[in-house]
Amino acid sequence: MDSPPQGNMGYRYLQQKFKELTGIDLSAYKDAQMARRLETFLQREKEASFYTLARRLERDGDLLQRLKDYLPINVTEFFRNPDRYQRLREKVIPELRQRYGKLFLWSAGASIGAEAYSLAILLLELGRDGKGTNHQILGTDIDEGALSAAKKGEYPRALLKHVTEAQLASFFEASGKDLFRVRRDVKRLVTYQRHDLLADPYPKGVHLILCRNVVIYFSEEAKEKVYRQMGESLAEGGYLLLGSSESIWQPQRFGLQLVEPFLYQKKMP
Ligand SMILES: C[S@@+](CC[C@H](N)C(=O)[O-])C[C@H]1O[C@@H](n2cnc3c(N)ncnc32)[C@H](O)[C@@H]1O
Repeated sequence: MDSPPQGNMGYRYLQQKFKELTGIDLSAYKDAQMARRLETFLQREKEASFYTLARRLERDGDLLQRLKDYLPINVTEFFRNPDRYQRLREKVIPELRQRYGKLFLWSAGASIGAEAYSLAILLLELGRDGKGTNHQILGTDIDEGALSAAKKGEYPRALLKHVTEAQLASFFEASGKDLFRVRRDVKRLVTYQRHDLLADPYPKGVHLILCRNVVIYFSEEAKEKVYRQMGESLAEGGYLLLGSSESIWQPQRFGLQLVEPFLYQKKMP
């Protein structure tokens, strides 16, 4: 019988198994950080090696979920970084609505849907003048489990700390103890699809992309690939919003210009 792979080989084996089970490619993440996290997880679970951990993941769904929760993979909340949403509300969305009317927004790396639904709420609030509720929001993620949760649209209070009481009353309904479900008119604006930013073709003609806290652990090469394709994905004058620790080096390479921290605009002809 083959002996179990050791050391680095065991680590690669775990990456491969994790990809088979979740679709998530840990090798696209910066190696040292990810390896440290996995090492700590290994100790916590009292597993002897990456290889034995990988074998246990195959038959233990709870362990797989614990590992996904432990890696900074699906962390999200409604209106994360509220000041960014404020800028979308005051500047970006009104400008785009003026130019394009009906908008196509993309939450790339949407996780369990809090970001896409936050955009939907924003559009519904801005659309109270009678226009603007026929926009389209696409939420994509590589993780099928996260996408099922997104479609369900049910969240604990902890994820709603930036949701105002008025928003809670208008756009959510209570659903069991301390759980809130987004209402149908919010859900109606959002479509979820599985999409791997490193492998699948990107949608075209997007007016606003939110890609926040997704590429942080990607290698430089993977990031470049993502930003290049996002540049091509945007309509002229469209915007790309990144997370708070993310920036694009020389964005003009991708036809983008920095408007303010974390916000890029595709150049007009
Ligand atoms: C930390 S969450 C960010 C959620 C949301 N954007 C936010 O900032 O609140 C990162 C998400 O990126 C997803 N992800 C990781 N690699 C991906 C890939 N190659 N393609 C698409 N999504 C990916 C993960 O599954 C996870 O749901």
